[in-house]
Amino acid sequence: MEKVLVTGGAGFIGQNIVRRLLEDGKEVTIIDNLSTGKKEVIDSFTAAAKGTKFYQENTETLPVEKYSDPDIDTIFHFGSPCSVQQFRKDPSKPMNETISGFMKVMELARSTGSTVIFPSSGSIYGNKKELQSEADEPETVNLHGIGEVTVETLAKYYRKYMESSAWA
Ligand SMILES: NC(=O)c1ccc[n+]([C@@H]2O[C@H](COP(=O)([O-])OP(=O)(O)OC[C@H]3O[C@@H](n4cnc5c(N)ncnc54)[C@H](O)[C@@H]3O)[C@@H](O)[C@H]2O)c1
Repeated sequence: MEKVLVTGGAGFIGQNIVRRLLEDGKEVTIIDNLSTGKKEVIDSFTAAAKGTKFYQENTETLPVEKYSDPDIDTIFHFGSPCSVQQFRKDPSKPMNETISGFMKVMELARSTGSTVIFPSSGSIYGNKKELQSEADEPETVNLHGIGEVTVETLAKYYRKYMESSAWA
């Protein structure tokens, strides 16, 4: 059975992905710090599908070795703060979670050889009215967007150098 790890599996996007993965017969491990996610959502998954595991953990301080199972094929990463208000109120905390959390996930992917799937955000393009594409330059107007642009830059770096001797 294919093993999949989902961060933020108690949240809005994550729970819909977990539901679909379970319907597809995957073995799912969920990591979530329950900062905005609901434990009842997790309980419904663990009750519905034996083998579903849940760990209350912050991605920023994820102990990579603990979750480093070589059978994990894919990591879906949604366990990240996304409230613009939170970034306004106390910028360094959500920014650290966004960037360090992503790097922990990438380190886990490096150690397990798994693929990472994560959402970016429309906020990287600011308040532009026209339809944007990946070819357009980011022009963010808030700290959440800066966090997402940084994560995209890190993702490109990992994709390019992950398996290369130029890793530095
Ligand atoms: N909802 C949207 O329309 C949308 C659009 C574009 C991008 N995104 C991105 O998708 C991701 C998830 O969004 P969402 O709408 O599902 O948010 P959400 O707040 O509903 O879910 C996030 C989940 O992750 C958990 N979480 C937050 N920080 C964590 C951390 N440091 N460690 C572990 N768990 C953590 C929360 O408890 C929650 O269960 C965010 O990164 C967001 O920026 C969302």
